[in-house]
Amino acid sequence: MTLLEVDNVVVRFGGVTAVNEASFSAEPGAITGLIGPNGAGKTTCFNVISGLQKPTKGKVRFRGKAITSMPVHRRARKGIGRTFQRLEAFGSLSVRENVRVAYDIHRGFAGIIKPGAADVDALLERVGITAYADERADSIPTGTARLLELARCLACDPHLLLLDEPSSGQDEAESVAFGQLLKDLADEGRGILMVEHDMDLVMSVCDQIHVLDFGSVIASGTPADIRASDRVQRAYLGYSDVDTDAVEAMTAVGSAAGVRLDDTTDTAVIPAVKEGLA
Ligand SMILES: Nc1ncnc2c1ncn2[C@@H]1O[C@H](COP(=O)(O)OP(=O)(O)OP(=O)(O)O)[C@@H](O)[C@H]1O
Ligand SMILES: [Mg+2]
Repeated sequence: MTLLEVDNVVVRFGGVTAVNEASFSAEPGAITGLIGPNGAGKTTCFNVISGLQKPTKGKVRFRGKAITSMPVHRRARKGIGRTFQRLEAFGSLSVRENVRVAYDIHRGFAGIIKPGAADVDALLERVGITAYADERADSIPTGTARLLELARCLACDPHLLLLDEPSSGQDEAESVAFGQLLKDLADEGRGILMVEHDMDLVMSVCDQIHVLDFGSVIASGTPADIRASDRVQRAYLGYSDVDTDAVEAMTAVGSAAGVRLDDTTDTAVIPAVKEGLA
């Protein structure tokens, strides 16, 4: 059964159409990428799926059932977990306490099952932030805070994880380890829907990718399909007659310099990159 189906969703904010008849899906046991330039509507889609934003039109189905009108907390209980692009940890609590709160709410429901400290520490260990367990959440590096959000999300044992730019702030080695963690989570049968600008990560871990541009899905397919799509290149770079190697190289250069691909709109960069490749 398809885990998540977003069906013809429209979101309008006054005169702005943030999501425009978008349809896409995510499967269990797989990593699905949701990519697109800044302002394409990715976070708004996550808000619609998690219940924070009511769509103007369209439907969301989770494990075969319509959830379009279901409140946020019930979606969370049904197994939809998410992290936030703008981090939402409790700053004055420690890293361990942040995860503990999520764990308590989930496992301690109705006071029947009490979470154990070992379970919380196992989650910190799993995402690789044990060294920060006693630090205040507002004092840790951004990349670590994103892992904290992931640990908190995992404390609720979700069927579907919505990860909004989870690897931003991570260096290359951290991003490789993070990719492996995502694959392990998918191997457990969880579905992952990930918004991410790090194309190396997206292309190396995703089974399927959907590309949003101005709120519409302009391409869906495997990483190879997406890489080869003229329409996708046009959306990111402003025009299409670039070769794939140049796009990849730009992504690599951009990642190394901390610049996102969609910030690299200066077409003069492309000949320079091509020259670098030659
Ligand atoms: N609450 C809101 N009110 C008005 N406009 C909004 C609101 N939220 C988002 N928008 C607009 O909707 C569009 C899509 O925004 P969204 O945050 O979903 O994009 P995004 O793809 O996540 O971008 P980014 O990569 O920069 O995070 C943008 O034009 C944004 O300005
Ligand atoms: Mg966003």
